[in-house]
Amino acid sequence: MTAELTTQQPQSSDPHPVAATEGVPQWYKDVVIYQLHVRAFYDSNGDGIGDFPGLTSKLDYLQDLGVTALWLLPFYPSPLKDDGYDIANYTNVHPAYGTLRDFKAFLREAHARGLRVITELVLNHTSDQHPWFQRARRAKPDSPHRDFYVWSNTPEKYQEARIIFKDFEPSNWTWDPVAKAYFWHRFYSHQPDLNFENPQVRRELLETVSFWLNLGVDGMRLDAVPYLFEREGTNCENLPETHAFLKELRRYVDKNYPGRMLLAEANQWPEDAIAYFGDGDECHTAFNFPVMPRLFMSKQMEDRFPIVDILQQTPAIPANCQWVLFLRNHDELTLEMVTDEERDYMYRVYAHDPQARINLGIRRRLAPLLNDNRRTIELLHGLLFSLPGTPVLYYGDEIGMGDNIYLGDRNGVRTPMQWSADRNAGFSPANPQRLYLPVVIDPEYQYETVNAENQRNNPQSLWWWIKRLIAVRNQHPAFGRGSLELLLPDNAKVLAFVRQFEEDRVLVVANLSRFSQYVELDLSAADGCVPVELFGHHRFPPIGKLPYLLTLGPHSFYWFALEKAPSGSDGKTDQKTSRINLHARWSEVFQGRPKSQLEWALRGWLPMHRWFGGKARSIQNVTITESIQIGGTKTTEQAKYLALAHVEYVDGEPETYLLPLGYAAGEEADRLITQSPSPIVCQLNLRDAKQTGVLLDATSDPTF
Ligand code: BGC
Repeated sequence: MTAELTTQQPQSSDPHPVAATEGVPQWYKDVVIYQLHVRAFYDSNGDGIGDFPGLTSKLDYLQDLGVTALWLLPFYPSPLKDDGYDIANYTNVHPAYGTLRDFKAFLREAHARGLRVITELVLNHTSDQHPWFQRARRAKPDSPHRDFYVWSNTPEKYQEARIIFKDFEPSNWTWDPVAKAYFWHRFYSHQPDLNFENPQVRRELLETVSFWLNLGVDGMRLDAVPYLFEREGTNCENLPETHAFLKELRRYVDKNYPGRMLLAEANQWPEDAIAYFGDGDECHTAFNFPVMPRLFMSKQMEDRFPIVDILQQTPAIPANCQWVLFLRNHDELTLEMVTDEERDYMYRVYAHDPQARINLGIRRRLAPLLNDNRRTIELLHGLLFSLPGTPVLYYGDEIGMGDNIYLGDRNGVRTPMQWSADRNAGFSPANPQRLYLPVVIDPEYQYETVNAENQRNNPQSLWWWIKRLIAVRNQHPAFGRGSLELLLPDNAKVLAFVRQFEEDRVLVVANLSRFSQYVELDLSAADGCVPVELFGHHRFPPIGKLPYLLTLGPHSFYWFALEKAPSGSDGKTDQKTSRINLHARWSEVFQGRPKSQLEWALRGWLPMHRWFGGKARSIQNVTITESIQIGGTKTTEQAKYLALAHVEYVDGEPETYLLPLGYAAGEEADRLITQSPSPIVCQLNLRDAKQTGVLLDATSDPTF
């Protein structure tokens, strides 16, 4: 039986928007985050600016890519002098991007596809156009309204605080002629800092949090979080008062919105950054800023030292917390968390052109930083997706989009998404002069060549490679949840480490050099295991007591599952039951990460069946291309599905099988496990049912 490979269609929309996170423990450890700006993604109404209906219409694209969470840059009413981080109203949508109703429709559709949604919570400051600031500057000194912001009669206070936008601002104080006083701002002078000493300010911000979490948002990124409080004689960063407020915020979220996530943006050295986890009672996640530039450094120096050094300096984090890793984002590649020598080196090798520099960083996208070298782009993604933490993909990097360093500020990395070779890169039907920013026309990266449509039509493209990378990561909980063991072989051009979570053990070996390398790894702890290469599923020679020898091509990397080989066998596993822990409802098993895990389990299950024609062949991959519900209501466990499983083999033609699948739990599951010779696929730990169930070939169910 064969069938065309098709994209899974969305299920009907979820009537309970918050259901997507309820009861899912630590979902933020398993997701792959895609960061995007609504205005840059897709313009549905032809005004040259992306909007929520446009984004909603592209959700199938994101689901197809395999990402499982979306992080949206600020989309609130704003004068847009700092791309929306200058908020003029915390609880609405910028009219150019649509309405609150459009946002709700987007959220519903994202949840229906198993995508979690993370939005921005800009606590530290507002726009000077925010009514709170307009009221404050006109209010009497010492009045409660004036007290919403931080004022002074002199610009001399808090001199030890650094200036962050040092290319634009000479001071953290600006004179306001209306208030006849200086106001404090850590960023642009049109972004006054809120006064966190004022309990009313803190209350207002908790209301903002409630507003978005009530709508069903799954997580919030806490922008610029180290700077909330000021204290004389300090650098006004990471103060105990800031942590106390964050603990209060966390208690509030846990009490009222269990299962939601707080993500700290704290561009700090490891020991200061981990403080944002508290004792597991502050932020659930935090960006790992220091690792990011060191990935680029290690690649350039062809030496693992920068990465290993920073990992070894990074203390362990509380068990319920998680780092968030990225290669590029909407800001400059910040070089604040490196030494002066390292910064000089990074500028020399990655930003020779002074136009590419801004503040303390480099305003470039990933592909231009890496000279559009496919090998190094893959290498860095291979590390991003395997080092401890949750990875973030910046929109457009999945197709290797270029940038435009001649646009002001950081706009060069915020240009429209390149969908096709059509007008305006398929982003908008508007007059090209009307676009919020011009599309990239640099001859090397121009949209006629670099676009999603071209790449999705070419199985060898970067897009397809990233899609496969995400799928493999989604199949292995060790990547999101595993421990880290660095291997440190003699050859320092090779970075090797093992990630392990429960039974799932993954070995990562990466060649940082542009030339071929060999490496001898001490894998004695895995004596008797067989490394199975995760992209092709080829079994490598079993590991013995001697050092394990591997050769690697230029800038190549391996991901291996270390599978236990039963003693006396030829290394092939003899599984009767594949156990997978899905943390999903039965109705969610055919989307997102649970789907990837199910596909992984099917590799072991299919050969156990008499009717499976590929028993003598090695399965490379199983993809569920379609699932159709054929009984029961969507939310019940009685629901049964017909799933199309596309089976690719290491050699020869693929096949597609039609699988009737059902679910059993409790006594029925026990009976099936003990009595049935083969219908059992895997045990599911279903979070809502809090029980072990059995996924079965529904033809074995007499009621089917
Ligand atoms: C954001 C920047 C923004 C700044 C001020 C940062 O952390 O990532 O894009 O300019 O906060 O809000």
